[in-house]
Amino acid sequence: MATQVWVPQATIPRRSWGKKVFSLLPSRSQSVSLHPTNNRRSIKCSYSTPDMTTDSSSVPIDVYADVKTEKIVVLGGSGFVGSAICKAAVSRGIEVVSLSRSGRPSYTDSWVEQVSWVKGDVFYARWDEVLGGATAVVSTLGGFGNEEQMKRINGEANIISVNAAKDFGVPKFILISVHDYNLPSFILNSGYFTGKRQAESELLSKYTNSGVVLRPGFIYGKRKVDGYEIPLDIVGEPLERVLAATASFTRPLKSLPGSDLLLAPPVSVDDVAYAVVNAVSDDDFFGVFTIEQIKEAAAKVRS
Ligand SMILES: NC(=O)c1ccc[n+]([C@@H]2O[C@H](COP(=O)([O-])OP(=O)(O)OC[C@H]3O[C@@H](n4cnc5c(N)ncnc54)[C@H](OP(=O)(O)O)[C@@H]3O)[C@@H](O)[C@H]2O)c1
Repeated sequence: MATQVWVPQATIPRRSWGKKVFSLLPSRSQSVSLHPTNNRRSIKCSYSTPDMTTDSSSVPIDVYADVKTEKIVVLGGSGFVGSAICKAAVSRGIEVVSLSRSGRPSYTDSWVEQVSWVKGDVFYARWDEVLGGATAVVSTLGGFGNEEQMKRINGEANIISVNAAKDFGVPKFILISVHDYNLPSFILNSGYFTGKRQAESELLSKYTNSGVVLRPGFIYGKRKVDGYEIPLDIVGEPLERVLAATASFTRPLKSLPGSDLLLAPPVSVDDVAYAVVNAVSDDDFFGVFTIEQIKEAAAKVRS
């Protein structure tokens, strides 16, 4: 006769949902089914105690555990940072939807096939078609232009998105913002930075216990532009190493206005993406994160 043992979620450390459950339980006779409404997988697994033989007289014990699954909506998944986030997320088994005006990228890659690409402008988005079932929204919306354009894309676009996510009950929102570079206030008053800070404060007021603001400096990696690849890592990677090695000597200079333009360490686009993946799966990860903290969060996922 089969005995059923229910493993309550509370006994599983939140950060290790998924991974640990699978390793705790034998891989033999494991079956997984997705609960359609609450993004939780029900795992059933049968096993025998060590002294049991595998003949038909063994008494199997069925173990059931709930494992949380994630579905994220990446605003700007076709961009430089957004595509790295989509790639890292699908590699960790996270369901990914991207929303951007250009939709699906023109290049092919296996991870591209695993993302649902939605074409649309956040200012006119049909949110009900995009946000259904999402456990987190990740916004990479931002950019340069004239004052008005920068306020609109860095500020308004993100504020609209935060409110849409909140209205649709999405439990988590992650914003890619920017480091302030210790810049003088007349530069920080530009549309780029004021837009970013307005978006941050909207997010943190609406998502008090789950909003995530990542503030990277220069992000390096391979940026795709019109079919060409710009290898920003040629500069970024060695610069990151040099700045890390000289950090103790340069620390006193950090109080000088604008010094971070030279001294703030670059961060790889993969680290930003892994920090996002960490934020998606760790309910205790919320608030504002500096460049160093982004790297620390990324290391947890990389290892
Ligand atoms: N790159 C860096 O070094 C760096 C450093 C610090 C912070 N950041 C921040 O990181 C974020 C991402 O930067 P990035 O370099 O990846 O920028 P990006 O390559 O220009 O990506 C921006 C993405 O947003 C989408 N987008 C723009 N306007 C939109 C709209 N109205 N509706 C829907 N989608 C829209 C773009 O796609 P479509 O144009 O097709 O819509 C694109 O996919 C930005 O917020 C930036 O400020 C970047």
